[in-house]
Amino acid sequence: MTENDFIPKAYTHLPEKGKVGWKAPSNIALVKYWGKKTNQIPANPSISFTLDACATQTQVTFTKKEDSKDFSFDLLFEGKPKEDFKPKIKTFLERIEPYLPFLKKYHFVIETSNSFPHSSGIASSASGMSALALCLLSVENKIQPMAPDFFNKKASFLARLGSGSACRSIEGDLVQWGKHEGIETSSELYGVKYPFDVNPIFKNYHDTILLVHKGQKQVSSSVGHNLMHDHPYAEKRFEQAHSNLDKLKPILGEGNLEAFMELVESEALTLHAMMMTSMPYFILMMPDTLEIINKLWRFRKETKVPICFTLDAGANVHVLYPESVKEKAIQFIQDELVAHCENGHYICDRIGTGAKQLFEE
Ligand code: PMV
Repeated sequence: MTENDFIPKAYTHLPEKGKVGWKAPSNIALVKYWGKKTNQIPANPSISFTLDACATQTQVTFTKKEDSKDFSFDLLFEGKPKEDFKPKIKTFLERIEPYLPFLKKYHFVIETSNSFPHSSGIASSASGMSALALCLLSVENKIQPMAPDFFNKKASFLARLGSGSACRSIEGDLVQWGKHEGIETSSELYGVKYPFDVNPIFKNYHDTILLVHKGQKQVSSSVGHNLMHDHPYAEKRFEQAHSNLDKLKPILGEGNLEAFMELVESEALTLHAMMMTSMPYFILMMPDTLEIINKLWRFRKETKVPICFTLDAGANVHVLYPESVKEKAIQFIQDELVAHCENGHYICDRIGTGAKQLFEE
Protein backbone atom coordinates (compact mmCIF):
# COMPACT_ATOMS: atom_id res chain seq x y z
CA MET A 1 0.00 0.00 0.00
CA THR A 2 1.09 3.59 -0.52
CA GLU A 3 0.10 6.88 1.10
CA ASN A 4 -2.33 7.48 -1.78
CA ASP A 5 -4.41 4.46 -0.79
CA PHE A 6 -5.45 6.41 2.33
CA ILE A 7 -6.91 9.32 0.36
CA PRO A 8 -10.69 8.74 0.29
CA LYS A 9 -12.87 9.13 -2.76
CA ALA A 10 -15.07 12.26 -2.89
CA TYR A 11 -17.70 12.34 -0.14
CA THR A 12 -21.32 12.29 -1.27
CA HIS A 13 -22.90 13.59 1.94
CA LEU A 14 -21.72 15.09 5.24
CA PRO A 15 -23.74 14.57 8.43
CA GLU A 16 -24.71 17.78 10.29
CA LYS A 17 -23.32 16.69 13.65
CA GLY A 18 -22.38 13.75 15.81
CA LYS A 19 -20.15 12.45 18.57
CA VAL A 20 -17.63 9.60 18.78
CA GLY A 21 -15.43 8.27 21.60
CA TRP A 22 -12.43 5.95 21.84
CA LYS A 23 -10.09 4.62 24.49
CA ALA A 24 -6.57 3.88 23.25
CA PRO A 25 -3.68 2.36 25.20
CA SER A 26 -0.02 3.20 25.42
CA ASN A 27 2.61 0.67 24.30
CA ILE A 28 6.12 -0.35 25.30
CA ALA A 29 8.67 -1.23 22.62
CA LEU A 30 10.75 -4.40 22.85
CA VAL A 31 12.79 -3.53 19.74
CA LYS A 32 13.02 0.25 19.76
CA TYR A 33 12.26 2.85 17.10
CA TRP A 34 14.93 5.54 17.31
CA GLY A 35 15.68 7.64 14.25
CA LYS A 36 13.29 8.72 11.53
CA LYS A 37 13.13 9.89 7.94
CA THR A 38 10.77 12.63 6.70
CA ASN A 39 7.01 12.17 7.22
CA GLN A 40 7.42 10.06 10.32
CA ILE A 41 8.92 7.11 8.44
CA PRO A 42 11.00 5.03 10.88
CA ALA A 43 14.70 4.48 10.22
CA ASN A 44 14.35 0.94 11.57
CA PRO A 45 11.54 -1.52 12.34
CA SER A 46 10.22 -1.89 15.90
CA ILE A 47 7.85 -4.10 17.88
CA SER A 48 5.90 -3.41 21.06
CA PHE A 49 3.61 -4.88 23.66
CA THR A 50 0.33 -2.98 23.66
CA LEU A 51 -0.48 -1.94 27.22
CA ASP A 52 -3.82 -2.03 29.01
CA ALA A 53 -4.09 0.29 32.04
CA CYS A 54 -2.15 3.27 30.67
CA ALA A 55 -4.65 4.71 28.23
CA THR A 56 -6.25 7.89 26.90
CA GLN A 57 -10.00 8.38 26.54
CA THR A 58 -11.05 10.88 23.92
CA GLN A 59 -14.41 12.04 22.66
CA VAL A 60 -14.93 14.26 19.67
CA THR A 61 -18.14 16.21 19.03
CA PHE A 62 -18.44 17.52 15.48
CA THR A 63 -20.78 20.18 14.07
CA LYS A 64 -20.87 21.27 10.42
CA LYS A 65 -19.78 24.88 9.92
CA GLU A 66 -20.40 27.43 7.17
CA ASP A 67 -16.93 28.37 6.17
CA SER A 68 -14.27 25.73 5.52
CA LYS A 69 -11.23 27.98 5.26
CA ASP A 70 -9.45 26.79 8.40
CA PHE A 71 -9.49 24.23 11.19
CA SER A 72 -11.73 25.00 14.13
CA PHE A 73 -11.59 23.12 17.42
CA ASP A 74 -11.78 23.44 21.19
CA LEU A 75 -9.64 21.25 23.36
CA LEU A 76 -10.50 20.12 26.88
CA PHE A 77 -8.01 18.10 28.91
CA GLU A 78 -9.48 16.49 32.02
CA GLY A 79 -12.49 18.79 31.69
CA LYS A 80 -10.56 22.06 31.38
CA PRO A 81 -9.51 24.06 28.31
CA LYS A 82 -5.87 23.33 27.48
CA GLU A 83 -4.48 26.01 25.18
CA ASP A 84 -0.88 24.75 25.25
CA PHE A 85 -1.87 21.41 23.62
CA LYS A 86 -3.54 23.18 20.71
CA PRO A 87 -0.50 23.88 18.47
CA LYS A 88 0.43 20.18 18.50
CA ILE A 89 -3.13 19.20 17.58
CA LYS A 90 -3.23 21.83 14.83
CA THR A 91 0.00 20.46 13.32
CA PHE A 92 -1.51 16.97 13.50
CA LEU A 93 -4.69 18.13 11.71
CA GLU A 94 -2.59 19.79 9.00
CA ARG A 95 -0.63 16.60 8.43
CA ILE A 96 -3.68 14.34 8.23
CA GLU A 97 -5.96 16.65 6.25
CA PRO A 98 -5.04 15.17 2.83
CA TYR A 99 -6.32 11.82 4.14
CA LEU A 100 -9.39 13.21 5.96
CA PRO A 101 -10.53 16.04 3.68
CA PHE A 102 -13.65 16.76 5.78
CA LEU A 103 -11.63 18.25 8.64
CA LYS A 104 -12.12 21.92 7.75
CA LYS A 105 -15.86 21.43 7.24
CA TYR A 106 -16.56 20.90 10.95
CA HIS A 107 -16.04 22.52 14.30
CA PHE A 108 -14.71 19.91 16.74
CA VAL A 109 -14.81 19.76 20.51
CA ILE A 110 -12.07 17.37 21.61
CA GLU A 111 -12.35 16.15 25.21
CA THR A 112 -9.53 13.99 26.44
CA SER A 113 -8.21 12.47 29.66
CA ASN A 114 -5.53 9.99 30.66
CA SER A 115 -5.91 7.03 32.99
CA PHE A 116 -2.39 7.54 34.30
CA PRO A 117 -1.54 10.43 36.61
CA HIS A 118 -0.91 13.77 35.02
CA SER A 119 2.81 14.47 34.47
CA SER A 120 3.85 10.99 35.57
CA GLY A 121 6.66 11.08 33.03
CA ILE A 122 4.69 8.52 31.02
CA ALA A 123 4.55 9.59 27.40
CA SER A 124 0.92 10.22 26.59
CA SER A 125 1.58 10.92 22.92
CA ALA A 126 1.16 7.27 21.83
CA SER A 127 -2.23 6.79 23.53
CA GLY A 128 -3.31 10.40 22.96
CA MET A 129 -2.57 10.52 19.24
CA SER A 130 -4.03 7.08 18.58
CA ALA A 131 -7.25 7.92 20.47
CA LEU A 132 -7.64 11.15 18.48
CA ALA A 133 -6.84 9.46 15.16
CA LEU A 134 -9.47 6.79 15.92
CA CYS A 135 -12.11 9.42 16.75
CA LEU A 136 -11.49 11.40 13.57
CA LEU A 137 -11.46 8.26 11.47
CA SER A 138 -14.77 7.20 13.05
CA VAL A 139 -16.20 10.48 11.75
CA GLU A 140 -15.04 9.53 8.26
CA ASN A 141 -16.46 6.05 8.76
CA LYS A 142 -19.87 7.65 9.29
CA ILE A 143 -19.48 9.63 6.07
CA GLN A 144 -18.09 6.74 4.05
CA PRO A 145 -18.05 3.31 5.76
CA MET A 146 -14.88 1.26 5.41
CA ALA A 147 -13.91 -2.38 6.07
CA PRO A 148 -12.65 -3.04 9.64
CA ASP A 149 -9.21 -4.15 8.47
CA PHE A 150 -8.75 -1.00 6.39
CA PHE A 151 -10.08 1.08 9.30
CA ASN A 152 -7.33 -0.27 11.59
CA LYS A 153 -4.62 0.32 9.00
CA LYS A 154 -5.76 3.86 8.32
CA ALA A 155 -6.11 4.62 12.05
CA SER A 156 -2.54 3.45 12.57
CA PHE A 157 -1.38 5.40 9.51
CA LEU A 158 -2.99 8.61 10.85
CA ALA A 159 -1.75 8.08 14.42
CA ARG A 160 1.79 7.68 13.05
CA LEU A 161 1.60 11.18 11.62
CA GLY A 162 0.92 12.47 15.15
CA SER A 163 3.61 10.49 16.93
CA GLY A 164 5.53 7.59 15.37
CA SER A 165 5.07 5.06 18.14
CA ALA A 166 1.32 5.89 18.33
CA CYS A 167 0.80 3.73 15.24
CA ARG A 168 1.50 0.70 17.45
CA SER A 169 -1.38 1.58 19.84
CA ILE A 170 -4.41 0.64 17.71
CA GLU A 171 -4.34 -3.14 18.02
CA GLY A 172 -2.97 -5.67 20.51
CA ASP A 173 -1.18 -7.48 21.79
CA LEU A 174 2.10 -7.39 19.89
CA VAL A 175 2.42 -4.86 17.10
CA GLN A 176 5.23 -4.45 14.60
CA TRP A 177 5.93 -1.30 12.59
CA GLY A 178 8.48 -0.57 9.86
CA LYS A 179 9.47 -2.50 6.74
CA HIS A 180 11.24 -5.72 7.62
CA GLU A 181 12.13 -8.50 5.20
CA GLY A 182 11.16 -11.29 7.55
CA ILE A 183 7.61 -9.96 7.98
CA GLU A 184 5.70 -9.90 4.72
CA THR A 185 2.82 -7.75 5.95
CA SER A 186 5.16 -5.14 7.50
CA SER A 187 4.96 -1.52 6.40
CA GLU A 188 6.66 1.74 7.21
CA LEU A 189 3.26 3.46 6.98
CA TYR A 190 1.40 1.64 9.76
CA GLY A 191 1.70 -0.96 12.49
CA VAL A 192 0.56 -4.56 11.94
CA LYS A 193 -0.38 -7.31 14.37
CA TYR A 194 2.63 -9.56 14.84
CA PRO A 195 1.84 -12.36 12.36
CA PHE A 196 3.76 -15.29 13.93
CA ASP A 197 3.00 -17.76 16.70
CA VAL A 198 3.52 -16.40 20.19
CA ASN A 199 3.95 -18.75 23.14
CA PRO A 200 1.17 -18.42 25.77
CA ILE A 201 3.78 -17.34 28.35
CA PHE A 202 3.76 -13.91 26.66
CA LYS A 203 -0.01 -13.62 26.68
CA ASN A 204 -0.47 -12.24 30.18
CA TYR A 205 2.86 -10.48 30.48
CA HIS A 206 3.11 -7.79 33.14
CA ASP A 207 4.70 -4.36 32.90
CA THR A 208 5.13 -2.57 36.23
CA ILE A 209 6.20 0.97 35.44
CA LEU A 210 8.46 2.49 38.07
CA LEU A 211 8.11 6.27 38.01
CA VAL A 212 11.65 7.37 38.75
CA HIS A 213 11.21 10.88 37.46
CA LYS A 214 7.84 12.46 36.83
CA GLY A 215 8.92 15.80 35.39
CA GLN A 216 9.46 16.87 31.83
CA LYS A 217 12.53 15.24 30.25
CA GLN A 218 15.33 17.58 29.16
CA VAL A 219 15.47 16.28 25.58
CA SER A 220 12.30 15.46 23.63
CA SER A 221 11.94 12.32 21.50
CA SER A 222 11.80 14.36 18.30
CA VAL A 223 15.14 16.00 19.08
CA GLY A 224 16.55 12.55 19.94
CA HIS A 225 15.30 11.00 16.70
CA ASN A 226 16.90 13.79 14.70
CA LEU A 227 20.26 13.24 16.35
CA MET A 228 20.37 9.83 14.64
CA HIS A 229 21.11 11.69 11.38
CA ASP A 230 24.91 11.74 11.07
CA HIS A 231 25.20 9.59 14.19
CA PRO A 232 28.43 7.56 14.06
CA TYR A 233 26.70 4.29 15.03
CA ALA A 234 23.36 4.78 13.26
CA GLU A 235 23.79 2.30 10.42
CA LYS A 236 24.94 -0.51 12.73
CA ARG A 237 22.09 0.25 15.10
CA PHE A 238 19.49 0.11 12.31
CA GLU A 239 20.94 -3.24 11.13
CA GLN A 240 20.83 -4.53 14.69
CA ALA A 241 17.12 -3.71 15.02
CA HIS A 242 16.41 -5.84 11.91
CA SER A 243 18.49 -8.67 13.26
CA ASN A 244 16.82 -8.47 16.68
CA LEU A 245 13.40 -8.72 15.06
CA ASP A 246 14.53 -11.91 13.31
CA LYS A 247 15.90 -13.27 16.58
CA LEU A 248 12.62 -12.54 18.36
CA LYS A 249 10.64 -14.87 16.09
CA PRO A 250 11.85 -18.19 17.63
CA ILE A 251 12.16 -16.56 21.08
CA LEU A 252 8.49 -15.54 21.10
CA GLY A 253 7.40 -18.79 19.46
CA GLU A 254 9.22 -21.07 21.90
CA GLY A 255 8.71 -18.90 24.98
CA ASN A 256 12.46 -18.68 25.53
CA LEU A 257 12.50 -16.28 28.49
CA GLU A 258 16.29 -16.22 28.94
CA ALA A 259 16.82 -15.09 25.36
CA PHE A 260 13.84 -12.70 25.56
CA MET A 261 15.22 -10.92 28.63
CA GLU A 262 18.67 -10.63 27.08
CA LEU A 263 17.35 -9.15 23.85
CA VAL A 264 14.92 -6.73 25.51
CA GLU A 265 17.47 -5.38 28.00
CA SER A 266 20.10 -5.03 25.30
CA GLU A 267 17.61 -3.02 23.19
CA ALA A 268 16.86 -0.70 26.12
CA LEU A 269 20.51 -0.04 26.85
CA THR A 270 21.31 0.40 23.16
CA LEU A 271 18.60 3.06 22.90
CA HIS A 272 20.23 4.98 25.73
CA ALA A 273 23.70 4.34 24.31
CA MET A 274 22.55 6.08 21.12
CA MET A 275 21.57 9.10 23.23
CA MET A 276 24.90 9.13 25.03
CA THR A 277 26.84 8.94 21.74
CA SER A 278 24.81 11.58 19.84
CA MET A 279 26.28 15.01 19.22
CA PRO A 280 25.20 16.81 21.34
CA TYR A 281 25.12 13.88 23.78
CA PHE A 282 22.63 13.51 26.59
CA ILE A 283 21.62 11.13 29.38
CA LEU A 284 18.00 10.48 30.33
CA MET A 285 18.66 7.77 32.92
CA MET A 286 18.97 8.92 36.52
CA PRO A 287 20.90 7.44 39.46
CA ASP A 288 17.74 5.63 40.60
CA THR A 289 17.30 4.12 37.12
CA LEU A 290 20.72 2.46 37.51
CA GLU A 291 20.03 1.43 41.11
CA ILE A 292 16.87 -0.33 39.95
CA ILE A 293 18.65 -2.09 37.09
CA ASN A 294 21.43 -3.33 39.38
CA LYS A 295 19.01 -4.53 42.05
CA LEU A 296 16.93 -6.29 39.42
CA TRP A 297 19.99 -8.08 38.00
CA ARG A 298 21.06 -9.15 41.48
CA PHE A 299 17.57 -10.45 42.33
CA ARG A 300 17.33 -12.36 39.05
CA LYS A 301 20.74 -13.94 39.56
CA GLU A 302 19.95 -15.02 43.12
CA THR A 303 16.37 -16.21 42.65
CA LYS A 304 16.24 -17.18 38.95
CA VAL A 305 12.88 -15.35 38.75
CA PRO A 306 12.53 -14.31 35.06
CA ILE A 307 12.08 -10.60 35.52
CA CYS A 308 13.71 -8.04 33.24
CA PHE A 309 13.54 -4.35 32.42
CA THR A 310 13.15 -2.05 29.49
CA LEU A 311 13.31 1.73 29.17
CA ASP A 312 11.65 4.24 26.93
CA ALA A 313 13.06 7.69 26.24
CA GLY A 314 13.19 8.69 29.90
CA ALA A 315 14.32 7.72 33.38
CA ASN A 316 11.37 5.45 34.25
CA VAL A 317 11.87 1.70 34.30
CA HIS A 318 9.40 -0.82 32.85
CA VAL A 319 9.71 -4.09 34.75
CA LEU A 320 8.52 -7.02 32.61
CA TYR A 321 7.60 -10.49 33.91
CA PRO A 322 5.23 -13.38 33.16
CA GLU A 323 2.01 -14.05 35.07
CA SER A 324 3.52 -17.16 36.72
CA VAL A 325 5.93 -15.08 38.87
CA LYS A 326 3.57 -12.19 39.58
CA GLU A 327 3.55 -12.51 43.40
CA LYS A 328 7.33 -12.83 43.68
CA ALA A 329 7.91 -9.94 41.30
CA ILE A 330 5.49 -7.58 43.05
CA GLN A 331 6.93 -8.46 46.45
CA PHE A 332 10.45 -7.71 45.20
CA ILE A 333 9.33 -4.45 43.58
CA GLN A 334 7.65 -3.32 46.79
CA ASP A 335 10.52 -4.39 49.04
CA GLU A 336 13.41 -3.09 46.99
CA LEU A 337 12.50 -0.96 43.99
CA VAL A 338 9.69 1.33 45.09
CA ALA A 339 12.17 3.25 47.26
CA HIS A 340 13.74 4.51 44.03
CA CYS A 341 10.47 5.87 42.62
CA GLU A 342 9.46 9.51 42.95
CA ASN A 343 7.05 9.62 45.92
CA GLY A 344 7.00 5.80 45.79
CA HIS A 345 4.80 5.87 42.69
CA TYR A 346 4.49 3.03 40.19
CA ILE A 347 1.81 1.75 37.81
CA CYS A 348 0.83 -1.91 37.43
CA ASP A 349 0.11 -2.55 33.79
CA ARG A 350 -0.01 -5.59 31.55
CA ILE A 351 -0.18 -6.52 27.89
CA GLY A 352 -3.49 -5.44 26.36
CA THR A 353 -5.71 -6.08 23.38
CA GLY A 354 -5.81 -2.65 21.74
CA ALA A 355 -8.08 0.38 21.43
CA LYS A 356 -11.83 0.18 22.13
CA GLN A 357 -14.62 2.29 20.72
CA LEU A 358 -16.63 3.82 23.57
CA PHE A 359 -19.63 5.14 21.63
CA GLU A 360 -20.81 6.65 18.37
CA GLU A 361 -23.83 8.94 18.03
O1 PMV B 1 6.88 8.07 19.04
P1 PMV B 1 7.98 8.93 19.55
O2 PMV B 1 8.47 9.90 18.51
O3 PMV B 1 7.67 9.57 20.85
O4 PMV B 1 9.26 7.98 19.81
C1 PMV B 1 9.25 6.95 20.74
C2 PMV B 1 10.56 6.32 20.85
C3 PMV B 1 10.75 5.26 21.93
O5 PMV B 1 9.68 5.27 22.85
C4 PMV B 1 12.03 5.58 22.69
C5 PMV B 1 10.91 3.88 21.33
C6 PMV B 1 9.67 3.24 20.77
O6 PMV B 1 9.83 2.44 19.82
O7 PMV B 1 8.58 3.46 21.29
